[in-house]
Amino acid sequence: MRALLYLPPSRQSPDIAHDRGSTLDAIEKKRQAAAAALEFVEPGCKLGIGTGSTVNELIAILDRVRSRVDVLVSSSVASSSLLEANGFQVATLSQSGDLDLYIDGADEANKRLQLIKGGGGALTREKILAGAARRFVCIVDDSKLVGMLGSFPLPIEVLPMAQDFVARQLLKLRCRPALREGFVTDNGNHILDVHGMRISNPLEMENRLNQIPGVVTVGIFAQRPADVLLVASDGGVKELRA
Ligand code: 5RP
Repeated sequence: MRALLYLPPSRQSPDIAHDRGSTLDAIEKKRQAAAAALEFVEPGCKLGIGTGSTVNELIAILDRVRSRVDVLVSSSVASSSLLEANGFQVATLSQSGDLDLYIDGADEANKRLQLIKGGGGALTREKILAGAARRFVCIVDDSKLVGMLGSFPLPIEVLPMAQDFVARQLLKLRCRPALREGFVTDNGNHILDVHGMRISNPLEMENRLNQIPGVVTVGIFAQRPADVLLVASDGGVKELRA
């Protein structure tokens, strides 16, 4: 008999949250943030590309800096497919070695450039590419900027055989893990979306959750925050640095 460990989400699902504000206006902000990120691509760049709707806007205009890109690596099968459809060759991280630059979106960001990522389920490869990059530029619209991380349900990638165990540990922390139904990551794992977390100390929480056996990756990016956050709003793109 399967234990019913996961409480139903009290808020909108991450998929819906992921689409939040997808009005024309929000799409235009994503485009502006993506365009601003192109400035960081220098000649001979070993470039890492993230995943998500904001990154898709970046891929759509990446041709503008094609001549400056030496090697390209991506954080997901979805982004690789889109890059290839746009005529780019995608290398593996083993082929590229460390990266000069990684550009990716986020689900939430604070002013210390700590992030929640993983709404699209690509958090593990995203964390690896961010870790391999000398510089991490994060592109968001202003709806993603928050005072405290945790309103967006925190994605945690887990080994399938450990998902109930990990969920029980999370329940002890008084938060509400929900299995992302029918979703399998590019690595063959599952995602728990953790609702009701107030992440006042992202670094400590990332370390703590990382200790739970069966956790593959926690969607808090505090050990490796962004170096530059490009926030697009009605007034233009603002650059925040750590
Ligand atoms: C994917 C991610 C994305 O960067 C994050 O979900 C933001 O996506 P979007 O640009 O579509 O809002 O972490 O795993």
